[in-house]
Amino acid sequence: MARLPILEYPDERLRTPAAPVTVFDAALGSLIDDLVETLHATTGIGLCAPQTGELRRVLVMDLSGDGSAPQAYVNPEILSRSGLAIVEESCLSLPGVAAKVFRSARVRVRASDRTGRSFERDLEGMHAVCLQHESDHLDGKLFTDRLSALRRLRFRTALAALERKASRSARSREAAGVRATPDPRQAVR
Ligand code: NI
Repeated sequence: MARLPILEYPDERLRTPAAPVTVFDAALGSLIDDLVETLHATTGIGLCAPQTGELRRVLVMDLSGDGSAPQAYVNPEILSRSGLAIVEESCLSLPGVAAKVFRSARVRVRASDRTGRSFERDLEGMHAVCLQHESDHLDGKLFTDRLSALRRLRFRTALAALERKASRSARSREAAGVRATPDPRQAVR
């Protein structure tokens, strides 16, 4: 088991639709275990593989509050929806941003478990909201996409701060790369 780094906005991989899982092997099991461990190290209730840079359709959720009830969904597909839920959402990939989002209150989902066995489950309340939020990630969507332009304006500052942070760390990676490259003049001497 390992804790995985969580990508933050505006990382492009968060905008890339994830590929369906076709091989149910030990590596998939390890990925699921790592996602659960990573989720449990946060205050979040859901996490998906693309948030860790693995562009595969895998998500995990745990709404127990004590880490006792992790659930994994591989290739989840929402079969039906009903009702309306308006819940304040946040996202591990969008630190500092929270907003009320319109979702379905109940969903029926079909997915596979880590062994490839298909199952269907009815979810409601926060379970339903969390599954919809994480399923959006698998399609390269963030919860802020579901807000009106006007409501998104409220997060302009927080989003701009994340963009600045990303470009700062890209610059410092470049700087580190330059330092790591041996000076050719030294090599000649
Ligand atoms: Ni999220």
